[in-house]
Amino acid sequence: MTDRYGVIGHPVAHSKSPVIHQMFARQTRQDISYETFDVPPDDLRAALKRFADDGIKGLNVTVPHKSAVCQFVDTLSGRARLAGAANTLIIHRDGKIEGDNTDGIGLVNDLTDDLGFTIEDARILILGAGGATRGIVPALLRDLPENLLIANRTAEKARSIASDFSELGRVSACQFNEIEGQQFDLVINATSAGLHGDVPPFPESILGADTICYDLSYAMADTPFVAWAKAHGCSEAYQGWGMLVRQAAESFYLWRGHQPDIHPVRRHLP
Ligand code: ATR
Repeated sequence: MTDRYGVIGHPVAHSKSPVIHQMFARQTRQDISYETFDVPPDDLRAALKRFADDGIKGLNVTVPHKSAVCQFVDTLSGRARLAGAANTLIIHRDGKIEGDNTDGIGLVNDLTDDLGFTIEDARILILGAGGATRGIVPALLRDLPENLLIANRTAEKARSIASDFSELGRVSACQFNEIEGQQFDLVINATSAGLHGDVPPFPESILGADTICYDLSYAMADTPFVAWAKAHGCSEAYQGWGMLVRQAAESFYLWRGHQPDIHPVRRHLP
């Protein structure tokens, strides 16, 4: 019988996850279906129960449910607990739901395998201090960057994340205006400003000749952050398409025990 999977979000119709997982399934000869489920926040708890009752085997979780879903699952992996967010749910035969988070490993695999970036000893700046930042900080720290600075409009939120992860490596926090004049090997945009077409007031002095810019967001055309980086002379500015495919591959592996080849799928996307 075909095993059912899907992605929950609100809105979710635009999601590329069905295409990605269907390509993985064809490639690894897995008999699965993958749907989008629009779940409003006030229906999240009841919806999870319905999915488990309906025999759905696993779900990806996207905006705005990644943090909220943690309170409704039965168990959380170590990395999901650290992140305070889950992007992957495994629904066991007995209906128990396990939350995991493959966003961090998805980003790290894209940076290292696809972009050839070495995290060890790198100076990394993360712009933004929301759920997305929490998801990637532990995975980045594991590869021992020289330092990881989190800059946010609301400095307090950046400090809180830095303090939560201080035992994992060298991580500090500040406000956007305090990064003026500092330079980084990698600048990651983890703010949601681009969703509203905005670019926060990041000082352009953070871009050196060899700085790589990476936006966790993705769009058919350049995201506002990627456009900003290119306009200020950055020659390597990427959107998060690679991370999207990589986190999906890790979810697929958790569900099916098969590691798909991400490259044909990556080439299929912008
Ligand atoms: P996500 O789960 O996607 O990270 P979030 O938790 O709502 O979403 O966090 C959004 C992040 O984008 C926050 O760091 C937010 O800054 P504040 O903490 O100061 O609110 C940042 N952000 C959103 N819109 C922004 C804007 N126009 N300028 C600067 N930062 C912005």
